[in-house]
Amino acid sequence: MFITFEGPDGSGKTTQFHLLVTWLHKKGYPVISTREPGGTDIGEQIRDVLHNPQNTAMDARTEILLYSASRAQHVAQHIRPALAQGKIVVSDRYADSTLAYQGYGRQLDLETLRQITTFATGGLVPDLTLYLDISAQKGLSRRRLGGGEWNRLDAEALEFHQRVRAGYHELVKQEPDRWVIVDAARPIEGIQAEIRATVGEKLEQIKKTRDL
Ligand code: TMP
Repeated sequence: MFITFEGPDGSGKTTQFHLLVTWLHKKGYPVISTREPGGTDIGEQIRDVLHNPQNTAMDARTEILLYSASRAQHVAQHIRPALAQGKIVVSDRYADSTLAYQGYGRQLDLETLRQITTFATGGLVPDLTLYLDISAQKGLSRRRLGGGEWNRLDAEALEFHQRVRAGYHELVKQEPDRWVIVDAARPIEGIQAEIRATVGEKLEQIKKTRDL
């Protein structure tokens, strides 16, 4: 089973991702956790280039291809082999981030992005995508106060982050069976409880179809 976390910057997605992975481990599931960009040695090197705030000269096409290159390596080296061994793979961001950030955020052609993404992933789509929803203003102020990594995309204008959020809402509408929206403007524990319930249900569903 392949689970992804998506959401605007400052949605608390990474915290929730770690809590879910720890819970799945404790429950005895074979689980691997990973992230994008990154997830492999090559991918982490690409991540450094992508997120370096000094790389202000980066062209939008370069950006797309670097995210996609990291993803291609991630799928081939890490995700597909783990899924083939029957593991649960949980990734902090995946291909939907390219559609939300480069597609809706940078307003690049969505059809082209979908084609590049299909090429990079060989068509691998998550079974479940947890979308942590927060307003762009709240997300950005959390990022500033949080004191974590401040990357090239955090530095974009508020309108960019507003388009990213609206883009995520579009993506949810297009594939409502795959996505679950989680209100991220709440205390951590309540959000995590909802996420565990959703994932638990999905695991039960998968178990049942295998028993049939
Ligand atoms: P994060 O690790 O803090 O989630 O940061 C990843 C950043 O990279 C975030 O600003 C979103 C951005 N991103 C894209 O723009 N496109 C992509 O395809 C991916 C995976 C991430």
